[in-house]
Amino acid sequence: MTARILDGKRIADELLARIQARVAERATLGKSRPGLAVVLVGSDPASGVYVKNKRKACKQVGFRSFDYDLPADTSQTDLYALIDKLNADEKVHGILVQLPLPPHIDATALINRIDPRKDVDGFHAANVGSLVLRQRGLRPCTPKGVMTLLAHTDKPIRGEHAVIVGVSNHVGRPMALELLLAGCTTTSCHKFTRDLAGFVAQADIVVVAVGRPGLVKGEWIKPGAIVVDIGINRLDDGTLVGDVEFDVAAERASWITPVPGGVGRMTVATLIENTLEAAETFFD
Ligand code: GUN
Repeated sequence: MTARILDGKRIADELLARIQARVAERATLGKSRPGLAVVLVGSDPASGVYVKNKRKACKQVGFRSFDYDLPADTSQTDLYALIDKLNADEKVHGILVQLPLPPHIDATALINRIDPRKDVDGFHAANVGSLVLRQRGLRPCTPKGVMTLLAHTDKPIRGEHAVIVGVSNHVGRPMALELLLAGCTTTSCHKFTRDLAGFVAQADIVVVAVGRPGLVKGEWIKPGAIVVDIGINRLDDGTLVGDVEFDVAAERASWITPVPGGVGRMTVATLIENTLEAAETFFD
């Protein structure tokens, strides 16, 4: 392997340690402990794991964690009432509703009910608008975490050609915006893209967020490119893999994120970072 590992676990742990120190400092200054409310509806096993990791990180840095585990048949009205209560609670600085929600819930309306100042996922329409307009606001965690990872390579990203594979609301599209705002020339690829291999081969930075194992072949990677794999896929034998053919890509790339231990850890740490940012920007 020639690529250097972009070590999401280490970089996330360092970020969490800095936040923990800041929480301790806030206590000496008589400032409040940041609080994060995490709402889980139903019993999707993957969501259960993600929520457990978020609550654990919350406690690790000394935040207050407010846990709501609700049955799958909870009504939209009851969820609105919970969001209204959390919006009004001054001990709560961040509110996260784990997605996906059961099909009878209008997830968009529920997310947009959250006070944008407490929307630590950065999913509220007002926060997405702020990102587009480069205004102050809370930014989606996964793309923001990838920008933190990219700041840990030895390569400046301004002027580079970034190819983003995947255009989801919460990951692919905001990822393209983050890279564009950081001065990259960006290309977004999706299911109608005719020559995915041809675009990936032109990229100085490749970011893949689709959820299909082996979608991006290692031999497509331009020698020296940075490869960021946001996909997390569980194979039938139980192993976790990303969307990029890791072994071959790592022979060509200059930097590459592993799966697991790459972007996933950064998403959780960035959620915690956003909660501190919400507390300090909007509620101190
Ligand atoms: N489901 C999968 N990833 C996420 C995330 O980052 N935030 C929320 N709210 N739900 C998710």
